[in-house]
Parts: sequence; structure tokens; C-alpha cells
Amino acid sequence: MNIGIIGLGYVGLITGVGFASLGNKVIGVDIDNNKINKINTGETPIYEQGLEEKLKEVNDNFRATTNINDLKDSEIIFVCVGTPSKEDGSIDLKYVRRAAEDISKILGSYRVIVIKSTVIPGTTESLIKILEKNDKKVGEDFGLAMNPEFLKEGSSLKDFFEPDRIVIGSYDEKSKEILAELYKDFNCPKLFANIKTAEMIKYASNSFLGTKISFINEIGNICKKLGIDVYAIAEGIGYDKRIGREFLNAGIGFGGSCFPKDIKALIAKSNEIGHEPKLLQEIIKINEKQPLKKIEFLKKHIPNLKGKEIGILGLAFKPETDDVRESRAIPIVKELLKEEVIIKAYDPKAIGNFKKLFPQIKYCSPEEILNSEAILILTNWKEFENLDYRKNIVIDGRGILKAKEAKIYEGICW
Ligand code: UGA
Repeated sequence: MNIGIIGLGYVGLITGVGFASLGNKVIGVDIDNNKINKINTGETPIYEQGLEEKLKEVNDNFRATTNINDLKDSEIIFVCVGTPSKEDGSIDLKYVRRAAEDISKILGSYRVIVIKSTVIPGTTESLIKILEKNDKKVGEDFGLAMNPEFLKEGSSLKDFFEPDRIVIGSYDEKSKEILAELYKDFNCPKLFANIKTAEMIKYASNSFLGTKISFINEIGNICKKLGIDVYAIAEGIGYDKRIGREFLNAGIGFGGSCFPKDIKALIAKSNEIGHEPKLLQEIIKINEKQPLKKIEFLKKHIPNLKGKEIGILGLAFKPETDDVRESRAIPIVKELLKEEVIIKAYDPKAIGNFKKLFPQIKYCSPEEILNSEAILILTNWKEFENLDYRKNIVIDGRGILKAKEAKIYEGICW
């Protein structure tokens, strides 16, 4: 099939490369010239496991451009642009609307417009007015659908090819049929629904995963006071199929470009329609307090932090990515700077991105970090399991087994 992608961020690029590698002809559009040049020479603008190899492999089937007119022959156009948070937590739809404007100008023969960006229920259908601008009618001249993504950064290619499920919300029958055909070789449950339901499935899914994390962190905070290892609790409850072990890793909370933004957007929408979402509000509150526990435990061992050298291991919001958006390292570094600490930091992939936010701290090797007065572990990169912590004070926020050998070891909630 001829596929167009608008927005070549994580989701757009993975979706485009994924469909190209399945034999489709894919053209990706983005406004960022640098990004386009990089992609067309086989270089990826982001670090994502296996992506560079895959991009080179699909050379003939995948092309990037800044020109939306190149999508004139696309039978399916996926909108994968960002939906950033506004001050009040609601989502900013300017990129989605601009994409709809652009598409409205190139509509010719029937094609399906698919929103993949995460949008609050009602958003996709609100784009109809924009898409119909040039006398084209939804359901007749073009189709409309919503197909949420469930890709996890760090394993997103694998998630693309082996999804747990595919959700397709469609306005018209023809859109549903075309998308069913596109996904026919994917061996997983497929859910067909209306557009609003598909939009909500995405929010409910991310909110539930955030709930699991804040829940186990709450239990962990209680466990810490009782001298119990919360990881044993996670195992003990995780065997119950109704609960499941995944996303019960207690620590310093969730970051990234999705959970905080999506849960806040659902809270904002909920308030707007007259329902106070107390549980969701509490999930965010727990998540915001959790990283600050690091400082509390650090002060237990070094009461006056001023002028002390503190090492940080892990800046990315999780392992296997260079992404630092909403990383729990951000509030921790801010707090340490307030205490006038000398910060030394290391991350295998995310130093470049973190440096843009905090140019004033020192970036160094893990070996140099081991010479600090205390070490804070903030991301569970595998390589942190290979360091020798025996001479150190370690405040561990992610459950690194090797760190338990430290001279003084303090787990965040264990
Ligand atoms: C998340 C969802 O997992 C994807 O399904 C979804 O498609 C994506 O958001 C999105 O909406 O685009 P992602 O943000 O890449 O994916 O990362 P996760 O692996 O979900 O981790 C999010 C955060 O939760 C990380 O900071 C991680 O360290 C933390 N986390 C995760 C925990 O603290 N404990 C856990 O047990 C699991």
C-alpha cells in the first residue's frame, strides 16, 4: 500500500519504518529539514534499538520529505505529530490541526486519514470541519480513523511488529476495511470500535500503567518504613494473574513524554466535563513526590550537602533511550542545585540531551562517579550492574542488585 506519515518523531518514524519493512511504500513528512536529511542518508535522529539497521534495510520503501504534496498518492495517511501539554495540563492541538489543514489541501481520490497522535476523546472527529474545507465529504471522499499506538521507547520496533493488540476506531466502514487489510498479517487481537472509544482506550491504558507504578511506589513507601523489600511484594502479588508482575517496579516514579502528559490531559478533560478525577490526581501527586525521597535519604547520610560531590548514574527517563523528557533526574538535579551540591553525572546515551537542560553540571565516566561522596542511581541501565560500589554510599532509585554491596546502601522504597 502507499502510506503517508505526517510527523517523524518516535511514533511516526517507527510506524513508517515498520510498514516499509512489511513491503509498503512509505513517505514520511516532517517540517524539520535536518531530520529529513539525516533520515534520507540512513541516519536516525533519535536513539532507538535496531532502528538504524532497519532504516538502512528499508531504503527503497521509505523516503522522508518536507513536502506534503508528496502524499498525494497515499492511500492511508497517518498523523503522528506531537500533542504537548499546555500549562493547565490539557493538550495543545496546534500540530494536529495544522496537519489536518495540510491534508485538506491534497485530498483527491478516496484515502483514509488516521490519527495516531494521542488525542483526548472527541478530538479526531473535531478535525472533520478542517478536513472538509475543500468541499470533500468525510465517509465519501475520504475516510477517518483513530489508531492509537502502544509503542514503548527502547523496544518500539519489537512492539510495532509484535503488538499485544491493535485498536482501530473508524468513522466509516471503508476506513475500517482498509486498515483491517493493512494490519491483516499482524497476529494479535484486533479491536474495532468507534473513534472516541479508540481515543479513550489509549488514555485508559497509559493511566492504568501509571496507576500500577504509583500504587507500587505507595506500597513501597510503607514497606520502607516497615523494613520490607517491596520487590518481594511485587513478586508475591504479581503471580496473581489478575494483577500481573509487569509495571510493578517501585522506584522514583514514571517519566517520559507519555504517562505524565496523558494522565494530566485526562485530568484536565475530566475537570472540564464536571468530574473530579481524584484517583488520577493522586497518581500524579505520588509521582511528583517520589523523586524527592532521594534527597531525604541522601541527607540521612550526609546532612549538609553544600559543596559535597554527589554522583548521578542515569539521566534518561528509562534505559535504552536517550530521551530525558520528564526524566525523574530533572527534579532531583534541580533540588541538588538548590542545596549547592557539586553534581557529577553519567548516562550511556542521554548526556547530550541532558546537557541542553543542565549545562552547569559536570558530565563524566562511571569510574569518576564512583569517586563521589555518594551516588544516586536514577535509571536502571544494565551496565550499572557491572560497577563496583563497595566503597560508596549509594541511594538506589531503581533496584540495582549489585549496588546492594555498597558500603552504605539505601533503597528508595525497600
Ligand atoms: C509508554 C507506554 O508503556 C506505551 O505503551 C505507550 O505507547 C507510550 O507510553 C506512549 O504513550 O507513547 P514509554 O513512555 O516509552 O511508553 O515508557 P514506559 O516503558 O512505559 O516507562 C514509562 C516510565 O515508567 C519510565 O520512567 C519508567 O522508568 C517508569 N516505570 C515503568 C517504573 O517506574 N516502573 C515500572 O514498573 C515500569
